[in-house]
Amino acid sequence: MNALQVEINPRLTIGGDLTVNRLGFGAMHLTGPGMWGDPLDPQAAIGVLRRAVELGVNFIDTADSYGPGNNERIIRRALHPYPDDLVICTKGGLLRSGPKDWIHGEGAPYIMPLGRPEYLRQQVEMSLRNLGLECIGLYQLHSIDPAVPLADQMGELVRLQEQGKIRHIGLSGQPGVTIDELIRARAHANVVAIENLYNIADRADEDTLRHAEEHDIAFIPWFPLGHGGLVGPDNVLAPIARQYGATASQLALSWLLHHSPATVLIPGTTSIEHLEQNMRAIDIELSESDMADIDVAVNRAKPPVWRPER
Ligand SMILES: NC(=O)c1ccc[n+]([C@@H]2O[C@H](COP(=O)([O-])OP(=O)(O)OC[C@H]3O[C@@H](n4cnc5c(N)ncnc54)[C@H](OP(=O)(O)O)[C@@H]3O)[C@@H](O)[C@H]2O)c1
Repeated sequence: MNALQVEINPRLTIGGDLTVNRLGFGAMHLTGPGMWGDPLDPQAAIGVLRRAVELGVNFIDTADSYGPGNNERIIRRALHPYPDDLVICTKGGLLRSGPKDWIHGEGAPYIMPLGRPEYLRQQVEMSLRNLGLECIGLYQLHSIDPAVPLADQMGELVRLQEQGKIRHIGLSGQPGVTIDELIRARAHANVVAIENLYNIADRADEDTLRHAEEHDIAFIPWFPLGHGGLVGPDNVLAPIARQYGATASQLALSWLLHHSPATVLIPGTTSIEHLEQNMRAIDIELSESDMADIDVAVNRAKPPVWRPER
């Protein structure tokens, strides 16, 4: 092995007791168009989830708002009774109003945080029912509600944790949780994971990633493939990837694995072929100089980025 090889641990332990493979799966796309309703082909969605688990995925990201509810239910249909080591991470506290509601100007009018304790409790109960679980491994507040005291939002999650309905608490945001929000939230609860928009082309939350790493908090980058903008044979990343015997998606995922030991990846796909390709990202070895060369090449190539306003 090259002396400057960046060694990656294929697993990460979240919250001291949930050891997961760092190449997980994001299930959001296994819903209907605009992340609304049932997937158009439920059997295909079930097939993708089962293949993911066969390939070693034991961390699956979902949310009550994907569907709403349908995404959690398709996971249950595909995988229940669950393998002992499977960690399902779901989220609550975000209202939907229709398909594509997070795409400005194209869809329904809004997504909106709702962090009232009574609502969070209801949503945890609904997720437990939809997923067929007695305890959710990692439950994330999907988006902090600025209209509700943070102590109330986190406090309810802590009560749910004390009641055994949630194992661990995480925080997510659009586009992400700030360091300040994380510090304030941790005054009320043991936050063991955060989920922010982050990928090889969009590192606006680099400081937050490093803060998470320093404090032993798992960092789950959403849009690890830029919501599809970083993948495919014609992508500007593809020629860079080829130099490392990789596809664009494998390069984007491998880079995230090498860039920080705190990341757990949740690439999403509706295709078994893409899933199998993405899972092979774990086999790509990159040295420190490869990582530096990739940074230069990516900066030059300027892949497309998309992020909502904070
Ligand atoms: N916390 C939050 O607020 C938040 C927000 C957004 C998303 N998320 C989570 O993050 C996960 C990932 O986000 P995402 O799925 O939108 O984006 P992503 O993982 O960055 O990209 C997924 C897109 O890439 C395509 N793709 C995947 N592998 C490919 C491959 N090998 N070759 C070509 N195309 C490929 C998929 O299309 P195909 O289906 O055709 O493969 C899909 O359109 C979601 O599933 C969700 O769980 C969280």
